[in-house]
Amino acid sequence: MPSTVIVGAQWGDEGKGKVTDLITSDYDFVVRFQGGNNAGHTVKHGERTLALHLMPSGIMDEVAIPVIGNGVVIDPGVLVEEMEMLETEGISCKNLKISCDAHVIMPYHKDFDGADEKRLGENKIGTTKRGIGPCYQDKAARKGIRIQDLLDEKIFRLKIEAALSQKNPILEKIYGLAPYTVDQICEEYLPYARILKPFMTESAQLLNTALREGKNILFEGAQGTLLDIDHGTYPYVTSSSCCAGGAAIGAGVGPTAINKVLGIQKAYITRVGGGPFPTEQRYIEDGGSPEESIIGNLFCTEGHEFGTTTGRKRRCGWFDAVIARYAAEVNGLTDVALTKLDVLSAFETIKVCTAYECEGKIYDYFPMQQSVLFHAKPIYEELPGWKGTDISTCRSFEELPENAQKYVEYIEEIAGVHISIIGVGQDRQQTIVRGWTSK
Ligand code: GDP
Ligand code: IMO
Ligand code: MG
Repeated sequence: MPSTVIVGAQWGDEGKGKVTDLITSDYDFVVRFQGGNNAGHTVKHGERTLALHLMPSGIMDEVAIPVIGNGVVIDPGVLVEEMEMLETEGISCKNLKISCDAHVIMPYHKDFDGADEKRLGENKIGTTKRGIGPCYQDKAARKGIRIQDLLDEKIFRLKIEAALSQKNPILEKIYGLAPYTVDQICEEYLPYARILKPFMTESAQLLNTALREGKNILFEGAQGTLLDIDHGTYPYVTSSSCCAGGAAIGAGVGPTAINKVLGIQKAYITRVGGGPFPTEQRYIEDGGSPEESIIGNLFCTEGHEFGTTTGRKRRCGWFDAVIARYAAEVNGLTDVALTKLDVLSAFETIKVCTAYECEGKIYDYFPMQQSVLFHAKPIYEELPGWKGTDISTCRSFEELPENAQKYVEYIEEIAGVHISIIGVGQDRQQTIVRGWTSK
């Protein structure tokens, strides 16, 4: 029963969607286990390029059964829209399974998300404003509404009534926003319930039965290690467990069911939203020097670094081995997929951060105090590049220019990981498989 977890090993957008699509054919199930439509996973499958937010990226394979696990928070309108989009593209959603225990994003969650960010002003997290945080907040407070509550109109009405008695005064009195009526919400949500009902399942039972039958499961993480609520750069994080351990909780399987953890790392790093980012090459508009800004913009244009969900320009910087080592530890990575190596073809020389310096102290491990991360000065090793050589047609490690091979080997050594997949382009064919096996 080989099961694999795919996790983002940085701040998200590492290329999880592409890698999931690439390896899904080896699995019987593909499962999203946390997050919601804050995720944006771009998949180029044949002639089609699709952005998926809630649906597991493996759905484009049309063989593995797609599952939305209990740990996911679902905006039903977005899910229905995504299903319609896929059907229009000729991709069937008939096998989709949705956990009855997944929580539902309500309209007031989105209101609170936006209003909270406004209130925080300069200190805002930079959320996707999809209502993710407030929905998980209600889940933890035991006040949430679950997918199964949509099955019974009477129960749903009662739960909404109870929720609104608390939410409406906050919306009105604290944020100056319009309150909701029970009818208003029912009118919007009950039609979605009728569409989604045939797909609702006890997904933990389904997956555990599959495991007993020797089936293979691929767990597709959203966001990334440094956005994890426990292990990320709190409070500049998302509200779920994006690390590999989250797969067991968010899908309802035991940790012993997982035998491979594939960390996805970009050959450089990006981040959207606020928070510390030691190797960032800031844009002029963000206070960067002209030199920094040239590098940041080169990453952005060569890597098309614009958010899949919000369209925001991503912050960009050099590869950070301190983060890579940390991600290897907290996720128990068995393998790494290094994506977007092709983007580095634009640089004469390539920097890798090996450690940080802060107030005379050297940190070669992830610092305990967040303030250190804010003030950390990266210590770089500068490696020769392969500027001008197009590596997007390389299909084996040996075909890569010598300096590109050395870069990959250097990262393996300094981060203590095995890089078994290398991405050299957006297309699924633009991949070098270097010893990856699902077994
Ligand atoms: P995810 O959220 O981790 O799935 O990543 P996103 O889809 O948000 O962002 C990654 C972007 O990089 C997408 O547009 C991918 O199609 C693209 N991509 C993935 N791997 C590669 C690669 O190896 N090279 C290039 N040039 N693009 C890639
Ligand atoms: P994928 O799955 C990159 C970031 C937001 C913000 C913080 C909190 O595509 O890698 P939230 O809306 O979750 O409360 O926002 O997390 N963020 C992501 N950044 N990729 C993502 O998903 C992200 N999902 C959330 O920008 O900084
Ligand atoms: Mg993304």
